[in-house]
Amino acid sequence: MPRPLIALCYGTRPQIIKASHLRRCLSDIAECVAIDSGQHYDFQLSGLLYEQLGIAPADVYLNVGSASHAQQTGILLGRAEEVFLDRHPDIVLVIGDTNSTLGMALAAVKLRIPVAHVEAGLRAADTLMPEEINRRVVDAIAHLLFAPCHRAALRLRSERKDAAIYDTGDVSYDVFLENLPRLPTIESFEPTLAGHRFIYATLHRAELTGRQEIVARVLHALTALDTPVVLPLHPRTKAILDTQLGRLKLPPHIRMTAPIGYLESLALTQHAAVVITDSGGLQREAYWSGTPCITMRSESEWVETIDLGANRLLSPTEDLTALGAHVSDALGPWREAGWDRAAYGDGTASRQVTQQIDAFLRQH
Ligand code: UD1
Repeated sequence: MPRPLIALCYGTRPQIIKASHLRRCLSDIAECVAIDSGQHYDFQLSGLLYEQLGIAPADVYLNVGSASHAQQTGILLGRAEEVFLDRHPDIVLVIGDTNSTLGMALAAVKLRIPVAHVEAGLRAADTLMPEEINRRVVDAIAHLLFAPCHRAALRLRSERKDAAIYDTGDVSYDVFLENLPRLPTIESFEPTLAGHRFIYATLHRAELTGRQEIVARVLHALTALDTPVVLPLHPRTKAILDTQLGRLKLPPHIRMTAPIGYLESLALTQHAAVVITDSGGLQREAYWSGTPCITMRSESEWVETIDLGANRLLSPTEDLTALGAHVSDALGPWREAGWDRAAYGDGTASRQVTQQIDAFLRQH
C-alpha cells in the first residue's frame, strides 16, 4: 500500500525552525512534500536556518516574497491550490499564525483536504492584529488542532466541538532541547561579550516597527541602560533605521548586527542577563533558559510565562523608565527566584503530533 502524503507548509523564520523537527518525525509515517511559501526570503531569516538545522531543501517554493497582507494571502491561496491539485496530499499541516498559514490552510479546505494546525488556540486581545485574524480563521477551519499549552487546548475545546484537539505541548521546545548540546560559545561569535553581563534584544513586530517614534523611544530606553546590548536587526527594523532614523546616534554599548542563526540566538538567550524582545519565540526560549524576559508589548500570547514570573510586559507606548528597574531586578533577585519550566509540555510535541496524524490517516 502506498504511504500517505503529508504537505508540510511553512515560510517564516519561526516556522522553518519548528518544521525542522516536525519534518523528521512525520517522515516516519508518511511521505512529506515540504512547501516553503517564501514569506521570509532573506538568507539570514531562511537559508541560514536551513543550513544550521540541517533541513533538506523544500520540495516546492511558492516565492510569495513581500506584499500586502491581502496580496500575500491571495497569491498563496492560488499557488498552494496548484500544488495541492498536482500532488494530492492526504493532509495539509500548517504552523502558527502567518499569512502563509492562512493562505495554505484556506487553499486546502477549499479542496476538502483536511488541515492540521500546529500551535493552535493562542489568542491576543487585539483582534485586529493580522496574526490574530490568521490564527482565529485557521483554528475555525482546521480538522486537527495541536495546542502548545493547556490553556490553548481548553479554549479550543470550548470553541470547536467538532474538531480533534490535542494538548501536545510546544514544538519549539522539542527544537530547543534538541539543539542545546550544539550551541556555540559566546567567544566564537561575539568575543567582546564573553565573560560580561549583557542584554539580548530583538524587535521586529509590525506594531512596533510600523511606527518610527516608537522604535526611537525603545532605542533611547536601551541606550539609557548601562549594560551592553546585542541587537540583531530584523530586516523590517533595519529598514526603519536606515530610512527614517538614519541620524539616530547610538552609543557603542548598543551593538547592532544582522539577524543571527538560531544556534547563536539560543546561546545568547542562555547567557544573557535579561532578554528584551517582542518575539513570541524568544519569550519561551528565555523562559526555558531561566533568563528573565521583558516583553515590549502590551500583551503576550504566552501568558504562562508571565503568570510564572519569567516574563514582564512593558508596553513601548508607556513610560519606559521602568526598563532600568526591571533590568536591575533581572541582574539579581528576579533571576535567582527561578520558575517552573513545564508550562509548554515535555519536548515530545512533534512525536505526539505525528502519532495523532498517523491515527487520523489510518481512519480516513
Ligand atoms: C512572530 C509571529 C509570526 C511571524 C514572525 C515573523 C506572533 C505570535 N508570531 O513570531 O507569526 O512569522 O513573528 O518574524 O506574532 N531568532 C534567530 N535569529 C535572530 C533572532 C531570533 O534565529 O536574529 C530565532 C529565535 O531564537 C526564535 C525565533 O527566531 O527561535 C523567533 O522568530 P521571530 O522572527 O522572532 O518570530 P516570532 O515572534 O516567534
